[in-house]
Amino acid sequence: MVACVAGRTPNSDNTLAMNAPYNFSPGPAMLPPEVIEQVKNDLPEWKWKGVGQGASIMEVSHRGKAFEALIAEAEQDLRDLLAIPSNYRVLFMQGGAWGQFAMVPMNLLRAGDTADYLVSGGWSKSASEEAQKFGSVNVLASSEWVGYTQVPDETTWLRSANPSYTYLCSNETVYGNEIHALPPTTRSPLIVDASSHFLSRPMDVSACGLIYAGAQKNVGPAGVTMVIVRDDLLDRAPTAIPTVFHYQHMAATKSLFNTPPVFSIYVTALTLKWIKSQGGLAEMERRAIVRSTMLYDAIDASKVFTAPVARADRSRMNVVFDSGKEETDAAFVKFCEARGLMSLKGHRVRGGMRASIYNAMPIAGVEALVAAMREFEANL
Ligand SMILES: Cc1ncc(COP(=O)(O)O)c(C=O)c1O
Repeated sequence: MVACVAGRTPNSDNTLAMNAPYNFSPGPAMLPPEVIEQVKNDLPEWKWKGVGQGASIMEVSHRGKAFEALIAEAEQDLRDLLAIPSNYRVLFMQGGAWGQFAMVPMNLLRAGDTADYLVSGGWSKSASEEAQKFGSVNVLASSEWVGYTQVPDETTWLRSANPSYTYLCSNETVYGNEIHALPPTTRSPLIVDASSHFLSRPMDVSACGLIYAGAQKNVGPAGVTMVIVRDDLLDRAPTAIPTVFHYQHMAATKSLFNTPPVFSIYVTALTLKWIKSQGGLAEMERRAIVRSTMLYDAIDASKVFTAPVARADRSRMNVVFDSGKEETDAAFVKFCEARGLMSLKGHRVRGGMRASIYNAMPIAGVEALVAAMREFEANL
């Protein structure tokens, strides 16, 4: 891993001080410049542990010793970062989080049983609808009626008697709410879609039956989805589901049953090393708190913009805000783009603005956004 990139100097927080453009995209999202630099170096010929492989990473066999070693090391790095207990398997799968919306019920929803879903945003709503194709779904609670500006309080959840599992999305990317503390272990396994805040903070894996996350926010490019699943759940799946969707089969073949997304796994492996080199998840969390506090404080102090999500449920990764006026929001997005602050337009179903500030976003990027907000407001 390179220590420094030409033209970019390290910040006090050891991220690289980058000048604009800053990419606030919700995903695929910004990757650490050190990772991009390493990819650039490796592109003509991939070197594994200093040994040239005679081809780029996009051209090597996934059955080769070097790639098998890479995927094993990526798994170990993920295990180290999250302190994953030994009775959990790590899978690198395809199909994105939408694939998991289907694979979770396919593998875990027992015939004739119900699964409990918490609906705290569009992603958990879609997951609950997808699960209905496979069996019965009970919505524990939904905050749709308040535009997902809060996470339904646990005291309001209507649990079913003996659900196959309890499902939630711990960070709703579109509406910008985050579950900061997972509910205490329920009698049924807890299934967590952690896609948009995965590896931004430590997580108690042992409190969950299964956690999954698409790589393309905090960990890598699109194309690979990490699944962490407890051993005892692997036996649940009926045999008559497609082999590539079968957790047990993917675990037995170490995610190498068929051709995996080699390039995405390689970049993910580099990003996992980057996170480790920066101080691990405690440091990622510290930076996320600094970035998000800075931005929410600026919005709360603004006379033009407001952040609608209840303070206790605000996401540290996806900061949603607006002015209440479509034309002002559009003008602000344009104003920011002219300053190299990119992809701030909110999701099409939500409108307004959304600043996605994942692990790779330097604090300088948030400072630039806050400065733009103040300048815009002063010019109104
Ligand atoms: C929390 C969450 N879940 C699910 C998805 C869907 O992911 P994909 O498009 O990779 O299937 C997204 C996409 O942004 C997301 O943010």
